[in-house]
Amino acid sequence: MSRVAYVNGTYVPHRAAAVHVEDRGYQFADGVYEVIAVANGAPIDEALHLKRLERSLAELRIARPFPDRVLRHLMREVLRRNRVRNGILYLQVTRGAAPRDHAFPERPIRPSVVMTARPARRPGRATVEGGIDVITIPDIRWRRCDIKSVSLLPNVLGKQQAKEAGAYEAWMVADDGTVTEGTSTNAWIVTKDGTLVTRPADHVILNGVTRIAILDLARRNGLAVEERSFTVAEALGAAEAFLTSTTSFVLPVVRIDGKPVGGGRPGRFANRLLATYRDHAGEAGP
Ligand code: PDD
Repeated sequence: MSRVAYVNGTYVPHRAAAVHVEDRGYQFADGVYEVIAVANGAPIDEALHLKRLERSLAELRIARPFPDRVLRHLMREVLRRNRVRNGILYLQVTRGAAPRDHAFPERPIRPSVVMTARPARRPGRATVEGGIDVITIPDIRWRRCDIKSVSLLPNVLGKQQAKEAGAYEAWMVADDGTVTEGTSTNAWIVTKDGTLVTRPADHVILNGVTRIAILDLARRNGLAVEERSFTVAEALGAAEAFLTSTTSFVLPVVRIDGKPVGGGRPGRFANRLLATYRDHAGEAGP
């Protein structure tokens, strides 16, 4: 079966899907995106993704292309046409195409909307049971990482560096020594007294939808949670560390820069949160 993409109002074969060369997303990274996990045909935490998309668009003053009702319909249509029941949905909105000029076009232009879907597996049993390595790198990004912008160059370079080091992810470290987040994941630790710690959703991290869901599930399960920053040294001395994202769910971090965390084995909090999150994802309605 051939893949289909949604591009500005039409469904086209994936291999022929294209936007204009003067699309501002292409030239200036002037656009935003969402990556949404799909389980049993249903987008997980769809409302949270749509809310974040709306916020990202508003921060960049890009017109909202459709009401949520229409976006929800288009998302389902892209899933249906690609026969994706378990996988990933990608949604991107840029300011649109216009003659190149840094400032916004004077006359309103139509935002470009692109959607694709593909089947995808979550990280396998070996990864979950063995845990993963992260490296640390300086956070060289701008100060509005709360906007889910397609401007991802530092993230791309960081992920490549992790890959070349044999690690799954790179945790970015701010000038004050605190961990901000991973290149495409949020960072967490569990203190020796069993408190979950993750950075508050300030301007230097993306407020992950998985992060929001895990915070909520943890609180509802009576776990102690603190939204505050932590250093690499604190993470190395912690009982556990883990990361969260749409594509990774919850993954235990067992080594940071080659040094073991939590005895170098996945901990019970990460395991339990992954199980709870999987339940939550499975329950998402169509
Ligand atoms: N990345 N931090 C950054 C910088 C991210 O790009 C992401 C998501 C996250 C986790 O957010 P969420 O839980 O909403 O997936 C944190 C997506 C998956 C990506 O770019 O592929």
